[in-house]
Amino acid sequence: MTIKCSVYCGTSLDGFLARPDGDIEWLQSERFMPEKAGLSYEAFIATVDTLVMGRNTFEKVLTFKEWPYAVPVVVLTTRTIEIPSHLRGKVRLKASPPQELVQQLASEGMRHLYVDGGITIQHFLQARLIHEITVTFIPVLLGAGISLFGSTNIEAPLKLLETTPFSNGFVQVRYTVENAAQPALPSHYHSHAGQSS
Ligand SMILES: NC(=O)c1ccc[n+]([C@@H]2O[C@H](COP(=O)([O-])OP(=O)(O)OC[C@H]3O[C@@H](n4cnc5c(N)ncnc54)[C@H](OP(=O)(O)O)[C@@H]3O)[C@@H](O)[C@H]2O)c1
Repeated sequence: MTIKCSVYCGTSLDGFLARPDGDIEWLQSERFMPEKAGLSYEAFIATVDTLVMGRNTFEKVLTFKEWPYAVPVVVLTTRTIEIPSHLRGKVRLKASPPQELVQQLASEGMRHLYVDGGITIQHFLQARLIHEITVTFIPVLLGAGISLFGSTNIEAPLKLLETTPFSNGFVQVRYTVENAAQPALPSHYHSHAGQSS
């Protein structure tokens, strides 16, 4: 059995997830690709068991008109934050390091985690726990902002899976991370999930 952790996001050509103040207006159309090509958000999210996001991303999503996720969400935070009542049962808070969190979610039977938020993605990459990265480049330079990969000296060999240009200038690239690790699963995992590797 394996567990896979994926990144799926949109960035400016210079690699920013958001403007310095967190603004993402410039990518709002990212989920609405003009052609059916590449890996659509809908096709991707249909394969996801749990979305793991950082607290900053959670706070941004809370400003949206509607909660956009049908999958269970884990919010990583070291703080005590209030989960709005309409999200109880859909969102839980955790403060575990990536390895520990992945082990726990694997022991609950999860197979595919969607990891979101710049700092969070960087922590997972540092732990070599990101297996696939899909980035849709929006044709804009922002010059400054919240960086997808940061400056954390993460080095990882990638294998290109697919490149998809769209008529509106978006370009989606998909990679597997060649040195990604499988977490050591807890000993009770196999009996719990009823699967073998
Ligand atoms: N363009 C896109 O597709 C896209 C996608 C996602 C996000 N975004 C944008 O990116 C911005 C947020 O990204 P970000 O890099 O600022 O941060 P982030 O990853 O969303 O959140 C970082 C925070 O999460 C908490 N955290 C992360 N790992 C943790 C762990 N293992 N244990 C405990 N807490 C942990 C910490 O918060 P505490 O201080 O609470 O401990 C940390 O400061 C937002 O503006 C969002 O809209 C854009």
